[in-house]
Amino acid sequence: MRDNEDLEINETKSSVEIRKIGIVGAGQMGSGIAQVCAQGEYAVCLADISQEVLDKAISGIRGRLDRLLEKERLTTEQVEAAMSNIATSTEYEAFGECDLVIEAATENESVKIAIFEKLIPFLRDDAILATNTSSISITRLAATTDRPERFMGIHFMNPVPIMKLVELIRGIATGDETFSAIENVVAQLGKISITSEDFPAFIVNRILVPMMNEAIFALHEGVGGVADIDAAMKLGANQPMGPLELADFVGLDTCLAIMNVLYDGFGDSKYRACPLLVKYVEAGWLGRKSGRGFYDYSGEKPVPTR
Ligand code: CAA
Repeated sequence: MRDNEDLEINETKSSVEIRKIGIVGAGQMGSGIAQVCAQGEYAVCLADISQEVLDKAISGIRGRLDRLLEKERLTTEQVEAAMSNIATSTEYEAFGECDLVIEAATENESVKIAIFEKLIPFLRDDAILATNTSSISITRLAATTDRPERFMGIHFMNPVPIMKLVELIRGIATGDETFSAIENVVAQLGKISITSEDFPAFIVNRILVPMMNEAIFALHEGVGGVADIDAAMKLGANQPMGPLELADFVGLDTCLAIMNVLYDGFGDSKYRACPLLVKYVEAGWLGRKSGRGFYDYSGEKPVPTR
């Protein structure tokens, strides 16, 4: 077994220097990635098709940095410097100056492929394209682009500013220079990278999402209610959030998408999504982001719904 120190990645030599990072998608993950990149002193271009989503992302980043200022973890100068590192755009032209573009759109293969198709004409030939996919084959996504050797997976965890880990995934064609350039970026962000082979859902979600799905089966079968299942795993297994609370936090649509990638990728019935998870997604009950999932978020405190 390797200890934590072994997991620390030292800066690796790479002739590719990343200065400007583009991020496609300003939702929960994209805005977190933009924040940590800006704090890591990269110039950031954050793009989304919706100006409203961009405005919300910027005010969320400002709010989080201001809280760090209040706690005296950052100085006013550091907050202002980070904010001034971020530009936003609803157009992809802005990515023409980027050394690295990270796609952080919804966990849907055809949406990601459509984004690459639209984005690639604006990219420099030597730019690296990475995806924050949490489950989809990097090799298959890379093959839809013009640059499989400069394409790879860089999977951040939610909430991005807090979670230490970034999973790095090579596609079959990913070049060594691309990989080490991304390792260096992760190190500059103050995060720890691990490498996963390109199998469905990589390492974290291969283990974590079936655990959440199992908790939903336990709820579905009446083994316990929402509060008991979450308390069981928080107090009995020292998890910081119960599995149902975590599923709501990640987004039930994302959990379902990942279970489907596991099921399709391995053809093994142990990965079938719980029918209750499917029903919640069909109802539009997607967790925190839609105001209702296994908890109701409309009041001051989340209330279990079952
Ligand atoms: N963004 C930024 N910072 C946040 C945050 C957010 N969304 N939520 C909480 N924080 C910060 C707080 O400001 C606080 O900071 P300080 O310690 O500096 O004061 C710190 O996190 C702790 O917050 P709280 O005391 O309010 O709450 P907590 O102790 O319950 O911690 C948590 C919150 C860190 C999110 C913790 O509950 C946790 O670790 N949960 C599990 C998260 C997890 O498993 N993430 C992985 C999800 S899977 C994934 O991301 C992969 C995928 O592809 C689906």
